[in-house]
Amino acid sequence: MTTEDFHFIRDLLVAEAGIELEPGKGYLVESRLLPVAQRAGLPSLEALIDHLRQEGKNGLNREVVHAMTINETSFFRDRHPFEALRHAVLPELIRRRAAVSQLNIWSAACSTGQEPYTVAMLLREYFPELNRWKVRLVASDLCHEVLAKAREGRYTQLEINRGLPPALLAKYFQPDQGEWLIKEEIRRRIEFQPFNLTKEWPPMPPWDLVLLRNVLIYFSQGARQRVLQRACQRLHPDGYLFLGTAENPLLLEPALERVTLGKCSCYRPRRNPAAPVPPPVSPSTSF
Ligand SMILES: C[S@@+](CC[C@H](N)C(=O)[O-])C[C@H]1O[C@@H](n2cnc3c(N)ncnc32)[C@H](O)[C@@H]1O
Repeated sequence: MTTEDFHFIRDLLVAEAGIELEPGKGYLVESRLLPVAQRAGLPSLEALIDHLRQEGKNGLNREVVHAMTINETSFFRDRHPFEALRHAVLPELIRRRAAVSQLNIWSAACSTGQEPYTVAMLLREYFPELNRWKVRLVASDLCHEVLAKAREGRYTQLEINRGLPPALLAKYFQPDQGEWLIKEEIRRRIEFQPFNLTKEWPPMPPWDLVLLRNVLIYFSQGARQRVLQRACQRLHPDGYLFLGTAENPLLLEPALERVTLGKCSCYRPRRNPAAPVPPPVSPSTSF
C-alpha cells in the first residue's frame, strides 16, 4: 500500500478511536481491511481507501476501525490482578460500602467478555453476601462484533482452556453444540454496552472499580492521557483502577498513585494524607 494510503488509515484510526498505528504495520492494515473491502463489494484495498476518502464519514469508517482493533483476551488474564481483587480489593470495598450495600464495577474495554465474566464469577464464588447488594457490573467495548460475542457468552474449548479453572467451568458453564455457554445466573449480572473511550463520556456513577486493561497500549499518547484523566475523575475517591501489566499511568496522570498488592500493581486517586477517607457516595445509574 502507498505511504499516503497508510497515513490516511493511520489518521482515521487516531481520530475515530485514539488507536495509533505504528510505522511498518502496512501488512496488518492489508490483512485486516481486505475482508472489509470484499464485504462492501469493492475490488481492492485501494478502492476501499478511495471510497473512504470520497465519502468522508460513513458506515465503513466504523467497520474499518472495528477491523483494526486487537481483541486478545482470556479468562483470569495475567492471574495476579484477579488474586488481588479476590484477596484485597473486593474485601476492602465490601467493608467500605457496607452502609450503602452498593458496588459499581466497570470493565471498560471488555472485548469478548472473558474479563467481566471472570469478575462476575469471582463475586459469585467468594462473596455470597453481595447477592443481597446492588452490584452494577458494566462491560463496554468500542467494537460491536466482540460485544455481541460477549453478550452471548459462548466460548470454544480453546478459549476455555486459556485460564478458566475446571471447577468454575463445571459450575458456571453448560455444554452447547460443541462449545460452552455461560450460565444465565452469571450472564444476567453484566450490562454490556457499546462505548468508545475516546469520544464523549456520558454521566456515570462514581466507579468503585475500573478495569481498563490492555487497551491504552494501543492509543496515541494524547488519547491515553485523556482517557486516564477521565477514568481517574470518574473513580470513587477510594476506588481502584486496574491497567494491563505493561501500562504505567503515573507520568500521564499525576492524580493517581500506585498500590502494590502481592504481585500486582493497581492505582487509586492520590490522597492528601491529611484528608479523611471520604464517605461512600450514592451512585447514579445513568451509564
Ligand atoms: C486487547 S483487548 C483487551 C481486553 C481485556 N480488557 C483484557 O485485558 O483481556 C482491547 C479491547 O479494546 C477495545 N478498544 C480499542 N479501542 C477502543 C476505544 N477507543 N474505546 C473502547 N474500546 C476500545 C478493542 O475493541 C478490544 O476489544
